[in-house]
Amino acid sequence: MFENGELAAARFHEPLIIGVGEKNYFLSSDVLGFIEQTDDAVYINNGNFVLINQAKLQIFDFDGNVIKPEITKVSKEFADVYKGDYAHFTLKEISEQSDTIFRAGESTKEALKEAVDYLRHSKNIYLTGSGTSYNASLVAKYLLAKYAKIKTESIISSELQFSPDLIEPNSILVAISQSGESADVLEAVNIAKKSNCKIISIINSLTSSLARESDIVIGMNCGPEIGVAATKSFTSQLIILYKIIQELNEEIKINFEEISSSISKILEEHNLIKKIASELKEISDIYVLGRGIHYPIAIESALKIKELTYIHAEGIAGGELKHGPLALMDTNVFVIIINPEDSTYQDTLTSAREIKARGAKIIGISDKNSDAYDFWVKIPKTDELTYPISETIPIQLLSYYAALEKETDPDYPRNLAKSVTVK
Ligand code: G6P
Repeated sequence: MFENGELAAARFHEPLIIGVGEKNYFLSSDVLGFIEQTDDAVYINNGNFVLINQAKLQIFDFDGNVIKPEITKVSKEFADVYKGDYAHFTLKEISEQSDTIFRAGESTKEALKEAVDYLRHSKNIYLTGSGTSYNASLVAKYLLAKYAKIKTESIISSELQFSPDLIEPNSILVAISQSGESADVLEAVNIAKKSNCKIISIINSLTSSLARESDIVIGMNCGPEIGVAATKSFTSQLIILYKIIQELNEEIKINFEEISSSISKILEEHNLIKKIASELKEISDIYVLGRGIHYPIAIESALKIKELTYIHAEGIAGGELKHGPLALMDTNVFVIIINPEDSTYQDTLTSAREIKARGAKIIGISDKNSDAYDFWVKIPKTDELTYPISETIPIQLLSYYAALEKETDPDYPRNLAKSVTVK
């Protein structure tokens, strides 16, 4: 800021957005910084400068040429940033999922169809993301192989720079990101573009940097997610993947109403889940075990527990138990067993018994009870394809209530940021 009150700002990779109010301007890295004041935004391009005084906004490029400000109307959806009656945004966002799943991909139906066309005809397809969005890409890899016979490779965004040769030229990169601003994801996109790849992205924030870098954009449309730990954006990502699978395989008919009512039923189990959460207060290690499609959910569950409760948590592929993790099982640990009654059921039940024999406490997430479980969280019976959504909800709730028990801040966990715009 200059002495005369004039403000200067510059964008160097990380986002810079100007909110244009009636009598004032706002500078922010995220529209959420000013959305309660104005929904008119100017997205500043990388390397550009801004000068703001009482009277006007001026934008220049790196050579000093004047750039005309282009105002974008930010979706009104993003104005819904109030907690309402909920104690925390995280709880609000978990609770919204029976509705938000209906909106996933709805504003960009044509883009979804176009994306499906590319997926159908492309030889090499890569999926990328960070954190929860990467975990969604692991589910996608599994679903595309099993239900559409399409082979893909899932790559952690921050890892791509170390093996850019993984990417075959002229391929497809599907980038998944709630914010569309994660620096690691943007870099992965950059690397893929150098190999002339088409970029299909699945994003919640449709005005983000990633949206502008992409050839095809599919919107999660789940409204602003304020809680740092991703919840509703994850289930929206899964729903978009289901819609893609449905387009690719006409034998698959997904009942979205049924998914929504399963979510509502699980959300009624607050008291049971609170009770289990109170048992986790003094625990230092939690393992989450699942097989097949439930393994990526086990990984995502462990991430949720870590982020919200600061308890060490790890996702285990059921069959790997005997290759190491069994050595860790004793009376001090809790193990969450993701075990709906599908093709993985019997093997996973056997794992549960092996763990129980070592004295660990077991939380079974299943439509069927078993004497192997110390606590049983019932989920409604669905088909194998859609279980991942029903099994995610209780673990989000459990992580939330365990955070309250541990008196951590569920919305803003220590040391973490909602969108990591730096490398
Ligand atoms: C941060 C957040 C995570 C999120 C990840 C990816 O680390 O704390 O919750 O999963 O970024 O965010 P994105 O916006 O790219 O999905």
